[in-house]
Amino acid sequence: MQKKISTEPYKGVRDFYPRDLAIREYIFKVWSQTVEQFGYERYDASVFEPAELYRSKTSEEIVNEQTYTFIDRGDREVTLRPEMTPTVARMVAGKKRDLVMPLRWYSIPNLFRYERPQRGRLREHWQLNCDLFGSDDTASDVEMVCLADQLLKNFGLTSGEFIIRINDRKEMTEFYASIGLTDPATINILTRLIDRKTKLPLDDFKSELGNIVPEKAEAVLEIINAPDKENEVTKALDRLGLKNVILDRSLARGFDYYTGMVFEIFSSNTELKRALLGGGRYDNLTGLFSDEPVSGVGFGMGDVSLLDLLESTGKLPQIKTGPKLMIIPTDSKLNLDALALARAWHECGIATAVDYRPKALGKRLQDADKRRIPYVMVFGTDEVVKAEYTVKNLTSGESQTGSFEILKNRLVEETEGRQDGLYL
Ligand code: HAM
Repeated sequence: MQKKISTEPYKGVRDFYPRDLAIREYIFKVWSQTVEQFGYERYDASVFEPAELYRSKTSEEIVNEQTYTFIDRGDREVTLRPEMTPTVARMVAGKKRDLVMPLRWYSIPNLFRYERPQRGRLREHWQLNCDLFGSDDTASDVEMVCLADQLLKNFGLTSGEFIIRINDRKEMTEFYASIGLTDPATINILTRLIDRKTKLPLDDFKSELGNIVPEKAEAVLEIINAPDKENEVTKALDRLGLKNVILDRSLARGFDYYTGMVFEIFSSNTELKRALLGGGRYDNLTGLFSDEPVSGVGFGMGDVSLLDLLESTGKLPQIKTGPKLMIIPTDSKLNLDALALARAWHECGIATAVDYRPKALGKRLQDADKRRIPYVMVFGTDEVVKAEYTVKNLTSGESQTGSFEILKNRLVEETEGRQDGLYL
């Protein structure tokens, strides 16, 4: 016999069964509503990008180890986007003359990274990207952190449940200069190593540090372990009422394009180790495409670690999918009449479906209950003749009988006020 194909999806990616997709849609909805409140506009692009887009200014780890890159039939080197920032920089630079600054843009792309799948890390994830272009005022850095904070709060998380870590690339460059480290290439390598610090055993970290800056390893350690003080951004955040903020000199961020403030937010639950989001200021990225760079600041927030946190803190609402009303014909000869009635329900905004299966009535009622469909209507010859129907509420067990008009008014009223779950 021919070997059957596995039903598993490709390694590190997810299938979204209806319930999973409903949860994803819920996350997207909170994302969109929150950022639109801050005045952000949505954009999108293709998953394909020319591979060269990522070569010069992104993260070495991503480019060398994590991109999905292939040669297309026209001999072009193509990469499945591993992040959105180079794409948005390309788009902004491409239309710079027509765009009126400041731009507040957001997107919800799916991104592809060839990572070792583990808790909080997959090979395909969805990421909210928010970026503000055309302002280099500290207030725009602060706005980004406030937006990230508001997003988490709009999922029902409290400030005690997450922690905001902030650092600044410019300030770090000054610290390094003060100990005689000025070569940008060395600082880049150092920053990438510090970014991997928590992933490495301390001894390995120290020995790699010794290889990069042989005489200055101790001084660098002192800088990155310096006790938490404040800078302009953390002071401003404090003034705006954000108290769960730490100035963390060991926060590096793996991307080469950041030039100023960088930040990441983590769950306070230390079992969830992966960042919920990360971002920063990048003043030269659009300079890859034109001589007049536009400054940008932004962040990306993934759906994987967020979902993990919402599940572990019980913050996911009950999300309902599928019909609100199931019509169950007593005889398959009535299936088409039932469909006609369903169409009348559709017109009044009640999601309705018909169970056409020639199964016992009891079995079909049971299945509707199992699927948590709130209302059922048994549909027989009597109903057709009298044009009078009975709708049963499967949660309360109550039934209502009447003409379509009467039931329609009741159902519309009742379903609008339902509190037992969220229909998207
Ligand atoms: P990033 O730190 O690579 O930044 O990703 C941002 C967030 O996306 C992470 O904190 C995490 O929530 C999620 N994420 C990243 N990789 C994965 C993965 N393999 N599986 C699941 N979730 C993941 C960036 O991508 C920057 N481009 C963000 C940015 C926008 N900076 C400025 N504007």
